[in-house]
Amino acid sequence: MRIGIIGSGSMGGVLARRLAELGHQVSIANSRGGESLTALAAEIGATPVSVVDAPRAGEILILAIPTKAVAELPRRLFASARSDVAVIDLGNYHPELRDGHIDAIDRGMLDSQWVAQQIGYPVIKAFNNVLAKSLLEKGVPRGTRGRIALSVYGDSSDAKAAVLRLVDDLGFEPVDGGVLDDSWRQQPGTPAYCRDLEAAALRRALAEADRSRIAEYRAEQEARIRRSL
Ligand SMILES: NC(=O)c1ccc[n+]([C@@H]2O[C@H](COP(=O)([O-])OP(=O)(O)OC[C@H]3O[C@@H](n4cnc5c(N)ncnc54)[C@H](OP(=O)(O)O)[C@@H]3O)[C@@H](O)[C@H]2O)c1
Repeated sequence: MRIGIIGSGSMGGVLARRLAELGHQVSIANSRGGESLTALAAEIGATPVSVVDAPRAGEILILAIPTKAVAELPRRLFASARSDVAVIDLGNYHPELRDGHIDAIDRGMLDSQWVAQQIGYPVIKAFNNVLAKSLLEKGVPRGTRGRIALSVYGDSSDAKAAVLRLVDDLGFEPVDGGVLDDSWRQQPGTPAYCRDLEAAALRRALAEADRSRIAEYRAEQEARIRRSL
């Protein structure tokens, strides 16, 4: 598959590496431009592109940038993309630690709904609740005992199916979580957040989450990260 990635840091870099290893044609962009990506791209067998060219690069586009940076993406980014490109949002909103406060999210809009609104294009939420290190090191073939499961949320069944296949390719058990409006179940600090669970345990953790606690979960997660720094 042809896959574009915006962001070449921890998550974008790992996904580019793993997807290129799997034989996908990967194009990668960051904020500093193609030259800064030459060494990484050559090492992993990807193509450095500009941010505006990334959505045109394929069937899937992965947004692997901090939430606050989504608002800085060029307007009409998707104007010349394929009309069926599946956009993956793997971001997590961290108001205190990184992103600053975004009123709409603080008032209750879900992280990925805000991202979709900013870019003017529907998104699939995936990979936000797995650490880059797990993504790099813990993928195993289908059928392996103890395989870690990753859940995916979104409204387009075609786009979601493509992302579920990608999860499986990367060595993780794909779990269809449902529509984007339910994607709060894997936002920061929820029981299903970054715990490397098997499928049954992941489904239980997603079901256990309490919508009234979204802000509390996030604050608890930011406190945990702060303590670990
Ligand atoms: N790290 C994890 O384990 C992990 C796990 C799950 C989810 N997440 C979430 O995934 C997102 C990315 O995290 P990360 O850890 O990969 O971050 P990171 O290592 O800081 O990398 C961020 C990348 O975004 C690029 N970027 C920033 N602003 C941009 C812009 N305006 N246009 C284009 N590219 C831009 C940066 O470009 P430059 O390289 O040019 O600076 C960099 O390549 C965050 O929302 C994070 O919360 C992270």
